[in-house]
Amino acid sequence: MSICTTKFKLNDGYDIPAVGLGTWQGQPGTEAAEELINSIVYALQNGYRHIDTASGYQVEEYVGKAVKKSGIPRSEVFITTKLGNTDHGKVEEAFLKSLDLLDSDYIDLYLMHWPQSILPNREPSEIPTFQETWKSMVQLREKYPDKLRSIGVSNFSIKTLEELLPTTTVVPAVNQVELHPMLPQIELVEYMAKKGIHCTCYSPLGQYNSPILTHLDITSIAERHGVTPAQVALAWEVSRGLSVCPKSSNQKRIVQNITLPQLTDEELISITNFHRKPNMHRTLCTYNGHPTRRGETVLGWTFERLGWDISTTEP
Ligand code: A2P
Repeated sequence: MSICTTKFKLNDGYDIPAVGLGTWQGQPGTEAAEELINSIVYALQNGYRHIDTASGYQVEEYVGKAVKKSGIPRSEVFITTKLGNTDHGKVEEAFLKSLDLLDSDYIDLYLMHWPQSILPNREPSEIPTFQETWKSMVQLREKYPDKLRSIGVSNFSIKTLEELLPTTTVVPAVNQVELHPMLPQIELVEYMAKKGIHCTCYSPLGQYNSPILTHLDITSIAERHGVTPAQVALAWEVSRGLSVCPKSSNQKRIVQNITLPQLTDEELISITNFHRKPNMHRTLCTYNGHPTRRGETVLGWTFERLGWDISTTEP
């Protein structure tokens, strides 16, 4: 097994590395800055060429420092960051701030982090609408072609993509969504493939205490290949043509997550079917600081408004 150097072609001609390092630390803030910088430097020096961050993670400054410290040329590193949902009305200002914090001449991929706009101290609203915010992102790239390469969205569903695509001639290059064996997003991935939108998986391992990492269906495949369940999940995702951004601050696991086994067709099919088992199809993300419960909203929007066809744990 060697380091995964696979890249996928985006609809605008740029390549996105299949494996990236996630930088969401569980809560916004700078507490673990040194640990994060060390993880990113270690990842880059051990073959990673994609770092995924967001203005909302409040760590862009540390990502910028780590990329410099790693000694890997900026031109070899793919950096994704995201427009925060309090910034939908000031896309240009937010982008230039991210660029400044990342201390970089350009950003490879800029995503609208969420479809919903949240104004400070206000209820989540549709002002500006995500169609308007997308238009601003398109204009942003037209204004700064040297500073911004690809643009895309995150947390969009078939429903919200269907609401967006007829309003624009620029199809998002990427939609980044929660995706792992318990939430394989089969219809969404098929829909996106038809539209030419690349899918990046966030929480590809299922965040904390993930049942995926201990379930016999996955551990038995891992044992057969002499790898960990995390490597099995990531290999399944990459084999589907998806890029992944697992987060880890542990050096051994950072290396594991980019060293992926070749799974057999039967194994891949069994992982794809894993979510069909009772209580196995659900979100594993703690969108509200705890396992997401039925009927809850995510950043003010219901699952129905988001178009998220995903079950949750029982209330
Ligand atoms: P740690 O940072 O201690 O490695 P996700 O990216 O799906 O949200 O998951 C991140 C969580 O999974 C973190 O808690 C991380 O902890 C853990 N993790 C990352 N890589 C592995 C791995 N290879 N095996 C087990 N757990 C992992």
